[in-house]
Amino acid sequence: MHLTDEEKDMLSGKHGEGVRKAMEVVVKFGELYDAKRLLKVKNAHIDAAAYTTIYDAGTDFVEFLGKNGARVAVPTTINPGSRDIEHWLAMDLSPEFSALSERLENAYMALGVSPTWTCAPYQCTSVPAFGEHVSWSESNAVNFANSVLGARTNRLPDLVDVCCAVVGRVPEYGLHLTENRAGQILFKLEGFGPEWFRETSDFAVLGYLVGEIAIQRVPVILGLPDSTGKDQLKALSAAAASGGSTALFHAVGHTPEARTQEEAFQGRTSYATVSVTPEKMNAVRARLTTAAHGKADMVMLGCPHASYFEVLEVQKLLAGRKVAPGTKFWIQTSRTVYGLADRSSLRKDLENQGVTFIKDTCIMVSDTEKDWGFKSVITNSGKVAQYVPGLAGGMVALMSTAGCVEAAVKGAW
Ligand code: F3S
Repeated sequence: MHLTDEEKDMLSGKHGEGVRKAMEVVVKFGELYDAKRLLKVKNAHIDAAAYTTIYDAGTDFVEFLGKNGARVAVPTTINPGSRDIEHWLAMDLSPEFSALSERLENAYMALGVSPTWTCAPYQCTSVPAFGEHVSWSESNAVNFANSVLGARTNRLPDLVDVCCAVVGRVPEYGLHLTENRAGQILFKLEGFGPEWFRETSDFAVLGYLVGEIAIQRVPVILGLPDSTGKDQLKALSAAAASGGSTALFHAVGHTPEARTQEEAFQGRTSYATVSVTPEKMNAVRARLTTAAHGKADMVMLGCPHASYFEVLEVQKLLAGRKVAPGTKFWIQTSRTVYGLADRSSLRKDLENQGVTFIKDTCIMVSDTEKDWGFKSVITNSGKVAQYVPGLAGGMVALMSTAGCVEAAVKGAW
């Protein structure tokens, strides 16, 4: 791999042992992909934020970098950690677990990472420009950055993401290269009436369906309505990344590299065409809904972390009603969105109605050993439907946001 003089200096230890180790990891990782050189990045987003994703060994590594003089070289945001930093007791976490999370949080602060603790940095702090090279991890954020913003990043592994932030570079391979961003498989929406794709969970179901079929190919979606918005594309990004491993999709007329179908495919031929129909969508939704009808133990919104406008929508749908006793209603969000809600009456009003804001974290990356005690989780998120049964226990019902709010008020679904 070709390295500049500055990069060679980093690798030689001239900038300290922490930077040397980070550069060694980045170069070795690049060699795995036959990268010819490193690219400078404008910003970074770290996924390896939760204690339950990297445990003690990962924490030791992040501490090692900081203690040996490393600092992030570019503005760097970070994913949810394993606890609500202010209100971890409200999550019923143990002091021992909280301390493990705090140690990792401190290690990142020592590196100079911005304390965003959110998986949706693109909706508050960090919005890369079209064509910009960035080093991001976190599957939904990578998919959103590539697809909806037109920035360029691969889905970096945990801890490699930290090393890239420290050296401010990524190996040039995969989705950094224009030719690898061409669409490969066409998904045609057919037979949908105007009632479809008005709300989040339809996009989550579509994302899951597309991700499962496309796997690592770049999907092109044809037929989304003009009304499609950023929060809906966020739901699609998250579900496609968890249903398969989609890191880039094109939606013709909606995403910046797909003003036309020809542009999305870069003039090439589609590998295959898949017809997406209401019947197929209903079948995926039914498959992801594993909970038996009855009591709603937990209503969970905010995966990926809720935007301010999604929180506003909940207030509108609740229309002054209260959450049923015996049902928990969590909105997972960033500290930034929570701060906005706090400065308006939104936070107070929703809390008075029985909603709990969980910030800095989410249930899937919090204490995965803990018995949360939920038998049924009602959600509008395809990613929750995919991961909650394995990571937090409980069976899931995938519903519209309005359906989730009604389940919270009735205490049943
Ligand atoms: Fe974010 Fe947790 Fe979902 S990190 S994307 S809220 S699983």
